[in-house]
Amino acid sequence: MQKLSIHGGVPLSGEVRVAGAKNAALPILAASLLTAEPLRLWNVPELNDTRTMVKLLQRMGVSAHVSPGAVELEAANITEPYAPYDLVKTMRASILALGPLVARFGDARVSLPGGCAIGERPVDLHIKGLEAMGASVTIESGNIHATAKKLKGARIFMDTVTVTGTENLMMAACLADGETLLENAAREPEIVDLAQCLIAMGARISGQGTDVIRVQGVAALHGATHAIMPDRIEAGTFLCAAAATRGNVTLTNAPVSSLDPVIDKLREAGAKVHVNGTTLRLEMARRPYAVGIRTSPHPGFPTDMQAQFLAMNTVADGTSVVTETIFENRFMHVQELRRLGARIDIEGNTAIVRGNDKLTGTTVMATDLRASASLVIAGLMAEGETIVDRIYHLDRGYERLEARLGALGARIRRVD
Ligand code: UD1
Repeated sequence: MQKLSIHGGVPLSGEVRVAGAKNAALPILAASLLTAEPLRLWNVPELNDTRTMVKLLQRMGVSAHVSPGAVELEAANITEPYAPYDLVKTMRASILALGPLVARFGDARVSLPGGCAIGERPVDLHIKGLEAMGASVTIESGNIHATAKKLKGARIFMDTVTVTGTENLMMAACLADGETLLENAAREPEIVDLAQCLIAMGARISGQGTDVIRVQGVAALHGATHAIMPDRIEAGTFLCAAAATRGNVTLTNAPVSSLDPVIDKLREAGAKVHVNGTTLRLEMARRPYAVGIRTSPHPGFPTDMQAQFLAMNTVADGTSVVTETIFENRFMHVQELRRLGARIDIEGNTAIVRGNDKLTGTTVMATDLRASASLVIAGLMAEGETIVDRIYHLDRGYERLEARLGALGARIRRVD
């Protein structure tokens, strides 16, 4: 199993280009199921998750041409509208095939995603929404089976804000008869990116980016070309690593407008952040101040950045309170950070972090994608060598992370 070896203590310095957003690419790849014509995508990040999504689509009969940073998909013939467990278990976002398949083909089977490291993560709202549009949904042999002659527009209220739930229902509604209203919809920038791609394919959508999305169904969608937005979580991770190591890093192709909550907290921690168009420069001259974090749906502070900020807080000046409100078990990184010398107490969904002068390197184990990123940041700050084990989690969501951190001066390498 591959690991990362990190010798900490080097302030990051230099320039890095932000890659395409994983969480925009996954639903947009799935959107190819909505049309028989080719969907050409640019700025697609080269990640295990995007490869898994392409593999899933190919198994269904979609033809795919993959070249560096680009994917062309054509779902002219679907042989098997089925997302099997072996792929769903490695990537929960496979559920994003459900809405498009039932909308276009009237039949979809997606293996039920099991529990995952960061919590229970049910998909009841995806199912309820499809049922409201007239689909009949059953659970058979561990699969969600949805059928419908033709989906019908509906008014759907989601009692919890769900990102992939909103995306699944927005895609399904594109081919439904009549109008669908999605209320209490998620407002994440990736939903706006998906909506823009769907609109380029001929969908009639308005309200994306607000909590009410209106979709007028159309008879068919057509092919389109779309460039995936840059990844705000990857950008935030680089910024956090730069601040934690007291570095000076410039990000190009940065999704500046969607980074407000992250930039705000970095400034509170003492960083100077300069914005110029899509270029962001962060300079950190001092030990970070401890910053309080409370995760919430966009435009609040993203749960996908909680672990990285918690890592920075472990060496901060002062005590911080970090509250996770989205997922019930998203503090798996805490026990690993403690192994590096961090002083963290957990009370329910809150972590209390007392800043330490330093961390000391040792072996730690990655448990999920963003937890892995927090361990890398901790390793970059720690004295001596940190080994981060089980980095397959990291490869799901970060493109060539060690090479890009290495280019910023980090002493980091992949070992078998
Ligand atoms: C997406 C992101 C993930 C991010 C998360 C929250 C993708 C591929 N993944 O995950 O990186 O951490 O948003 O920003 O975009 N819930 C229900 N019923 C449902 C669906 C969700 O109760 O049917 C609950 C979940 O358990 C959770 C909350 O809603 O407590 C938010 O989850 P959701 O927004 O759906 O997360 P994902 O879309 O899975």
